[in-house]
Amino acid sequence: MSTTDLTQVTSKRILSGMRPTGKLHLGHYKGVLENWLQLQEQHQCYFFAADWHALTTEYANPSIVKDTIWDMLIDWLAVGIDPEKAVVFIQSEVPEHAELHLLFSFMTPLSWLERVPTYKDQIEQLREKDLGTYGFLGYPLLQSADILMYRADGVPVGEDQIPHIELTREVARRFNHLYRQGIPPLFPEPESLLMPAAKLPGLDGRKMSKSYNNTIELGEEWKITEKKVKTMPTDPARVRRDDPGTPEACPVWDFHKVYSTEAEREWVQDGCTTASIGCIDCKMCMLKHLEAELQPIRDRRAEIASRPDDLRDIVKLGNEKARHEASRTMEKVRKSLKMGYRV
Ligand code: TRP
Ligand code: SF4
Repeated sequence: MSTTDLTQVTSKRILSGMRPTGKLHLGHYKGVLENWLQLQEQHQCYFFAADWHALTTEYANPSIVKDTIWDMLIDWLAVGIDPEKAVVFIQSEVPEHAELHLLFSFMTPLSWLERVPTYKDQIEQLREKDLGTYGFLGYPLLQSADILMYRADGVPVGEDQIPHIELTREVARRFNHLYRQGIPPLFPEPESLLMPAAKLPGLDGRKMSKSYNNTIELGEEWKITEKKVKTMPTDPARVRRDDPGTPEACPVWDFHKVYSTEAEREWVQDGCTTASIGCIDCKMCMLKHLEAELQPIRDRRAEIASRPDDLRDIVKLGNEKARHEASRTMEKVRKSLKMGYRV
């Protein structure tokens, strides 16, 4: 397995994508976007909306992409993804991704794709979607094309995506071996930059996910967030106000661990275990921090959303930069495949 500690990497080329399939929530922010923010300060980053990847599972409901893609891009910019530092683009605006995917498909053994663990897992988990398709099997290979197109050195991913980066390394190796004999390899083998598992759970203590209906959306109104937190479950042992509780058995505590000060956490520990504070007091303390984090993001969101033409220009420019890089790579790829006969 090839994983790298982010802090050990000096300036590299980084690429990552996100599928536009729903509204972004706090889990995306704390688990993924904060990581991207850190990377864009040090590295040449490419961040893209993986709309074709969304269609591999949502082909029967393609509207989900148009309904969510611009909101997702707004969220990226609202949290601080900076188009001056990172190239922000839309996958399908760079059709070279499809061409590279096709050329890779010729040299990729079926067995490499069939053994990717997410393949069978997802078919099982998303039974209602019929993922026994050609395109879904090729999902990780399309991802390899995304990555190798920009000759990325590092790809920030969650644990589940590591096999996709492994596949990408094998594809790079195979391409270099088949077509670059005696000349310098074209594709570097990218590293997985493993993002630490999310510290912040969903409102019910399980992983934050829209399918569990336990999220705090980045774009929702503060009133809604407040209401969700006030009604979120706490330690079930605290049935009445004077029942003592155990913070470790309560999802509110996980939020305190992320947001609150040392002194506040001591106050929670003491107050909860002796029943000297109520759960509402405890939640109010946490909410104050949550508001301080979310309000500026929501203000920026509103501002970006109010200037849709500027947003489109930003993404158009990102698409152009990505296409420029992609066309350079594809020229080399076509040359490697002896396609100089084209006029
Ligand atoms: N498969 C990724 C996910 O589900 C999204 C993605 C598509 C991606 N192409 C990528 C991530 C390239 C990193 C690099 O999260
Ligand atoms: Fe949870 Fe806080 Fe209530 Fe304790 S006091 S059960 S930590 S909400």
